[in-house]
Amino acid sequence: MAALTPTEAFVWVWLPGAPAPVPAGRVVAEGEIITFYYGRSYLERPEAIPLYLPELPLQRGRQRPRGAMRVAGVIRDAGPDAWGQRVILARHLGRLDHSHDTAELGLLTYLLESHSDRIGALDFQDRSDVYVPRSGSATLTEVQAATEKFLAGEQFSPDLDEALMRGTSIGGARPKVLLRETGDGPAPGRELIAKLSTQTDPYPVVRAEAVGMDLAARVGLNVASTALTQALGRDVLLVERFDRAPLPDGGEGRRLVVSGLTLLELDEVEGRWATYPALADLIRARFTDPDATLRELFSRIVFNICVSNTDDHARNHAAFWDGEQLTLTPAYDLCPQLRSGETAAQAMAISRDGRRDSRFATCVDAAETYHLTRAQAADIIEHQITVITEEWGAAADAAGLTDADREQMWGRQILNPAVHHTE
Ligand SMILES: Nc1ncnc2c1ncn2[C@@H]1O[C@H](COP(=O)(O)OP(=O)(O)OP(=O)(O)O)[C@@H](O)[C@H]1O
Ligand SMILES: [Mg+2]
Repeated sequence: MAALTPTEAFVWVWLPGAPAPVPAGRVVAEGEIITFYYGRSYLERPEAIPLYLPELPLQRGRQRPRGAMRVAGVIRDAGPDAWGQRVILARHLGRLDHSHDTAELGLLTYLLESHSDRIGALDFQDRSDVYVPRSGSATLTEVQAATEKFLAGEQFSPDLDEALMRGTSIGGARPKVLLRETGDGPAPGRELIAKLSTQTDPYPVVRAEAVGMDLAARVGLNVASTALTQALGRDVLLVERFDRAPLPDGGEGRRLVVSGLTLLELDEVEGRWATYPALADLIRARFTDPDATLRELFSRIVFNICVSNTDDHARNHAAFWDGEQLTLTPAYDLCPQLRSGETAAQAMAISRDGRRDSRFATCVDAAETYHLTRAQAADIIEHQITVITEEWGAAADAAGLTDADREQMWGRQILNPAVHHTE
């Protein structure tokens, strides 16, 4: 176990357009909660922005998490969740050991021991005067090999640690790693997320996600671009990151990102209370380009239904934060899920009366919430059905689906007849 449990960490931020981070403040463990203090030097900077509002207004002194939250959402979002926490816990235990729970280590340990290249524009350090990034790099093949050894319970060697380190800072449950595209790829230097396959995947999850992301682009959603590759004979999905931005004078900027959970001011354990109408209300009030964004959100709901992506929980939605306004990020993690039985339900309610059943009729009934007429909603649905029907074959080819995969997906995960049911 950790010799010492950290009680504080310094929060560093890449301000918009800046190539390097500055210290913004400090998080402090106080029993069950984590409080936040802005640093005086940060508050004196003319270009300082609040890390997120209404959570952390630019003011001196101690800031408690709001409501039932144990830590400000913007801080939580920057840390590892299921996958990264398992890796860090294994580093402490010597190997992956399912008899231990990731709750055994506190959030500050996870923030301070994960890689410094994390989603969004924050990092955590044990000092406020010098910035020392925690690094670690490995090739995709090394990462795939290390992941297999790790999941098989092999001793946590320095090599394994080095290979898995760049996956410790990112959220989500599946094994993954952050990479920079090298050499002769289509866009050298591009920052990517690599999502790996595992031996225990109940179906070809990575190929299914490749199809989901491809079809999303084809129906016209704003979606992260992806490519499928292989490492050690297993599928790997490469997802282009949207939270990195080349700067005009060279170098790379980082964009602040908050999850849907943070937008809705919910603690991790409250995720089931997240709803699409609550997100729509926020979009109306605080997002850039609200009408187009509401249409995009509605189209994403429809698309999730089209492809049985029922894993559309609040952490699978996010927004950029520039200190004043929010902008919906491109869509990500659009992965057709297995269906059992005829009916399915989305992870977040679609209508104000709490309906979450995966049917187009539910979407049309909720159209007004997304500033659409019933006819406009029906057109969006019709358009997606047409494109998916016409382009499914091409998307399946691009993802290298076998005949068996296609059989398994079409009419079951993709455009299941139940989506048309009227009640
Ligand atoms: N293209 C992207 N650019 C920047 N950040 C991203 C991108 N795609 C995903 N993320 C971030 O990485 C996190 C994990 O990615 P993702 O949701 O794809 O993983 P997952 O393991 O499939 O998640 P889940 O636990 O929902 O199944 C997301 O919650 C989001 O914060
Ligand atoms: Mg996810």
